[in-house]
Amino acid sequence: MNPLLSLARAEILSLTPYSHAAWRPSLTRLHANEAPWRPADDRSDAGLNRYPEPQPAALLERLAAIYAVTPDRLLACRGSDEAIDVLSRIFLRAGRDAILQCTPTFGMYQVAARIQGAEVLEVPLDRERGWRLDPERVLAAWHPGIKLVYLCSPNNPTANRLDTAAVESVCAVLDGQAVVVIDEAYIEWCGSPSLVSWLDRFATLAILRTLSKAHALAGARLGALIAAPSLIEVARRVVPPYCLAQPTIEAALAALTPAALEVSRGRIQALIAERERLAAELARSPLVERVWPSDGNFLLIDCTDPDEFMRRSLEGGTIVRDLRANAALSRSLRITVGEPAANERLLESLERR
Ligand SMILES: Cc1ncc(COP(=O)(O)O)c(C=O)c1O
Repeated sequence: MNPLLSLARAEILSLTPYSHAAWRPSLTRLHANEAPWRPADDRSDAGLNRYPEPQPAALLERLAAIYAVTPDRLLACRGSDEAIDVLSRIFLRAGRDAILQCTPTFGMYQVAARIQGAEVLEVPLDRERGWRLDPERVLAAWHPGIKLVYLCSPNNPTANRLDTAAVESVCAVLDGQAVVVIDEAYIEWCGSPSLVSWLDRFATLAILRTLSKAHALAGARLGALIAAPSLIEVARRVVPPYCLAQPTIEAALAALTPAALEVSRGRIQALIAERERLAAELARSPLVERVWPSDGNFLLIDCTDPDEFMRRSLEGGTIVRDLRANAALSRSLRITVGEPAANERLLESLERR
């Protein structure tokens, strides 16, 4: 059996998917129980009275071109959050299977696993070595019940890109035994290429991408699971048929034209420069003990007095993310890089008493 599918839940493989209304746009639609009129103020191209095209072909082609894969390797879904949920549903059996995550990291991996009734195993990133991934520790911790191994690069909230050789050794050893999920939500901010070409080398690799960050579409909710066609075929049966709303499809197509992408590239470069400026300014504040190097659109800082940092930023009208609930981040906050004026406001409020 295909190594990917042999890791999947048997009841998912034998699932008969929901049979949605056929997508035949040239025909008059009297087959989907929709209202025949548009709602008030509907500015969409296709009409909000109509169900959207499931896995829209034009959008898949555009995403596939941008991510350098074929459309059959791509599931478009409601943010990469939904891709994480779909992977959990496909691979994790309640009370039997587990995920492995390298902490501190993005919170949804464990939430999705726990909703599914699966265990969560944590391997800490090496703080002393700049939150480095230790492949030996990951491989030593892995056992056959661990179906999903999450590697987030650049990692949220530590902001560092994981060492490529370390990621590669995890992929090489676990290939065929677990799905290694590389979450590239922040890849556009680090200048390094996606590892998507590794799909040709590793059968059980999956990559997550999102339009929420560098494409400025967090509110539209659009992400992608990229993997072997056999997994994508199963994922398309598991994801709700109309997971992408019509305004989302239209907003994404507009944001992904060559001209729009060119504008985004310029903005990304400007934000990276602003990130470095903000990091340098923050490092000068007596409230800040350390600014960690960042490969993302945010900064992880350790504070001399986190309560006072939070108090002054809130008084100045700015909210940053408090990470102190995490034992490894007991003095840490996360600051998203904003427009220069917003960053300046934060810096000014830190100087006020
Ligand atoms: C590492 C990482 N992955 C995935 C996501 C989810 O992104 P979305 O569901 O908006 O695509 C986030 C959101 O903050 C994130 O930080």
